Amino acid sequence: MAKGFFIAFEGIDGSGKTEQVFRLAQWLFSTSKKFTSIVCTREPTWGTYGRRLRRFLHSEKDPYAGAERFLKLYVADRKEHCAKEIVPALKAGKLVLCDRFMHSSYAFQQTQGIALKRIVQMHAGVARPDLVLLIDLPAKEAFGRLSKRNVKGNEKFERLEFMARLRSLYLRLPKQFPKDRIVVINGRGSREQVAVRVKAAVIKSGVAAGVL
Ligand code: TYD
Repeated sequence: MAKGFFIAFEGIDGSGKTEQVFRLAQWLFSTSKKFTSIVCTREPTWGTYGRRLRRFLHSEKDPYAGAERFLKLYVADRKEHCAKEIVPALKAGKLVLCDRFMHSSYAFQQTQGIALKRIVQMHAGVARPDLVLLIDLPAKEAFGRLSKRNVKGNEKFERLEFMARLRSLYLRLPKQFPKDRIVVINGRGSREQVAVRVKAAVIKSGVAAGVL
């Protein structure tokens, strides 16, 4: 049976990655006959821990508060997500596109004040993506997009100062984890323009042979 392939999308809130997950899935489904099934999924999930997480994200306003609690919940949610959905899909030979995965914890919970080393250690044994697409946008632009989009007010991590620090920590990840194949994609411009860059990155990345 064909081995599955796992692509994670990363970026600060408002970077536009969710839209790009969907567009890449559409493009791959119509272009590549290699995968009969494409799974689009996201974190946090609505599972045991994800549900709890999402409640806190709306009720808490200080982005730096509760770092330890958040880290534990995100990792527990991720492990449940892997066990129930991601790993079975990969074993069945499916292409999995995930909106946020472990590098979200590397960047967000590090910005909250937790040592990167500890975050990495907590992910021992967790499946790693074959490719990580990091959609990059300056914090100010992303914040502007969020302010237009959020009718219910901003979530916990959607603060301009937090987002600026977060972006700089995200941008360090490709050098810190060279084996993780993290490709930084310019998130400026229209959705179509970003989608073209995402396709180009997938084609160009050394692992494209596994997808196309
Ligand atoms: P988000 O991508 O906004 O989810 P949705 O669009 O489904 O509401 O994720 C919710 C928040 O959680 C977002 O601010 C990023 C944050 N987050 C972390 O801090 N660490 C993590 O490991 C993950 C997956 C998300």
